[in-house]
Amino acid sequence: MQILVTGGAGYIGSHTCFALLEAGHRVIVLDNLCNSKVSTLDKIKLLTNKEIIFYPLDVTNESSVDSIFLNHRIDAVFHFAGLKSVSESVKKPLEYYYNNVVSTLILAKACQKYNINKFIFSSSATVYGRNKVPFLEDSELMSATTPYGETKVISERILTDVAKANSEFSVSLLRYFNPVGAHKSGLIGEAPNNIPNNLMPYITQVAKGKMRKLKIFGDDYPTVDGSGVRDYIHVVDLALGHVAALNNLLPGVNVYNLGTGKGTSVFQLVKAFEEVNNVHVPYEITNRRSGDIAECYADVSKAEKELKWKAKLGIIDICRDAWRFEKKYEV
Ligand code: NAD
Ligand code: UD1
Repeated sequence: MQILVTGGAGYIGSHTCFALLEAGHRVIVLDNLCNSKVSTLDKIKLLTNKEIIFYPLDVTNESSVDSIFLNHRIDAVFHFAGLKSVSESVKKPLEYYYNNVVSTLILAKACQKYNINKFIFSSSATVYGRNKVPFLEDSELMSATTPYGETKVISERILTDVAKANSEFSVSLLRYFNPVGAHKSGLIGEAPNNIPNNLMPYITQVAKGKMRKLKIFGDDYPTVDGSGVRDYIHVVDLALGHVAALNNLLPGVNVYNLGTGKGTSVFQLVKAFEEVNNVHVPYEITNRRSGDIAECYADVSKAEKELKWKAKLGIIDICRDAWRFEKKYEV
């Protein structure tokens, strides 16, 4: 298939482009490079020995998007493009609503116009808000805790309504848990343009000496050791989950948790990182981060059963691969 990948130069998009090319698909990437670099696409070409068509454009620009649909035969759309910093979304809600919701609207409209019926959307476990763990796909979405989370809830709702109105439209809403790690080549990985917000890129940058100390946000949660518990999924497994979602796309709405089903605490992750890589990660305990929940992990039985997909890599692979990428990566 020929697949349009928005945000394909970014962290999850780049690993998914790699997986799609390896599975024999062709990819067209749309990315405005606001949080990525075009060199990432060159690295994927090097790894796969395959071509990628790239357009450096903004997915909120309707006429540019339309011209891509007009000029290429597209079989499926994978929509990764989006702003993803939770804390920034609280400070700049309009930017987040505009970028993340308008991009979804424009792509859904183009799909309708050009009769493209396969759509895979990057959603997030954040849509579960303060539900009870493990999170199940059919839980009621009470309300996300931040503007970023709301953009995912709204985008899910838009795509669900499009599917209700058009019985041929197939959409997969993939709710990612905590994507971490990097491709084993060390060539592609998480390389945010700014200061990282998430735990793993923070750990790797502290280990490399780019930052002095990791701040651990709270050690008084009702968890195994007081620190927050998350479901860390290797980005390579996550990318393969997208290929499985495409292969098993049914008409209507398909919702899947992409996680491992296992929780790991911050202390456990830091310790594993130090042991696996034989490096020291200095840290200090600080206050809880506002909006954080104690525990977040998936029930993964639906994806396992219906997609015949399961995360294979564990915390050791995650720590080793994230560190290999960080060591090789030069800004
Ligand atoms: P990322 O920032 O690495 O990648 C997003 C890409 O989209 C970047 O290359 C950026 O330049 C591009 N982009 C953003 N807005 C754009 C626009 N208007 N037009 C064109 N390109 C645009 O982020 P990621 O971690 O790869 O996340 C991919 C998707 O998955 C996002 O939608 C994110 O919200 C979602 N998600 C991520 C996580 C996570 O922890 N990384 C968790 C759950 C969901
Ligand atoms: C965050 C978002 C979530 C989003 C996800 C992926 C919040 C509240 N949630 O998830 O909506 O889908 O990113 O982008 O921001 N931690 C530290 N020190 C740090 C960073 C994190 O102790 O410097 C802790 C956190 O308190 C948490 C765990 O590490 O317990 C994981 O944090 P993080 O990587 O930011 O992801 P989430 O908070 O799970």
